[in-house]
Amino acid sequence: MALEICDLTATYGEGTVLHGVSLTAKPGMVTALVGRNGAGKTTTLKALMGLVTSPSGTVSLDGKDLTKLPAYERARAGIGYVPQGREIFPQLTVKENLELGMEANPEVRSIPEDIFETFPVLKEFLGRRGGDLSGGQQQQLAIARALVAKPRVLVLDEPTEGIQPSVIQEIGRVITRLKQNVAVLLVEQYLEFALDIADDVYVIEKGEIVQHGKPGELDEEKLKETMSL
Ligand SMILES: Nc1ncnc2c1ncn2[C@@H]1O[C@H](COP(=O)(O)OP(=O)(O)O)[C@@H](O)[C@H]1O
Ligand SMILES: [Mg+2]
Repeated sequence: MALEICDLTATYGEGTVLHGVSLTAKPGMVTALVGRNGAGKTTTLKALMGLVTSPSGTVSLDGKDLTKLPAYERARAGIGYVPQGREIFPQLTVKENLELGMEANPEVRSIPEDIFETFPVLKEFLGRRGGDLSGGQQQQLAIARALVAKPRVLVLDEPTEGIQPSVIQEIGRVITRLKQNVAVLLVEQYLEFALDIADDVYVIEKGEIVQHGKPGELDEEKLKETMSL
């Protein structure tokens, strides 16, 4: 059982930017989707979440078809989405940001304590406004907010963007630990980071998957070309 995306397309106005993307993210694994800027990574995630026009293709989670469901119901079905740029609420406190995450799962009535084991800094700063955290702390808050609802799949869009190297390493360690409890779908432009923590990698170029395999199985020459053009 897993998250399965099959032949998904997406359009903005007249233009088609995803041309039939298929991928699977399984529990116990970090599945990475890598590609350079503009390749269609974010659009893939938005189509997965029901946030862009998607004329064809299917999305299913553990065998349940989500394709016709609106975004909030996909989240309720168990997909935790951390958008690019984090999108935490800067005026709200850390605690309030985390409480908003609970709305995706009515069974969760308080912030699960293991969140603070994973992100101790958030416990320390519970009363601080989100906007007053560092970029790395905001990223941790965004991931924690998604985890509060106990999702079955955690979807991360460029969690390393604009974050200093030491914090990137910490986020890598957290993701590696989290995959024991949740399937992770990681979108990245930072190739070395993705290859380091991924168990399975899809490479996207111009809205199409051009390679798929374990990190060691990919055609390195082709990968370099795809990522650098
Ligand atoms: N809101 C939008 N309206 C029109 N075109 C868009 C929009 N967002 C993204 N695009 C285009 O879709 C393509 C894929 O973008 P995106 O999915 O954001 O790429 P990535 O996340 O891989 O950098 C790019 O050509 C981009 O210019
Ligand atoms: Mg993007």
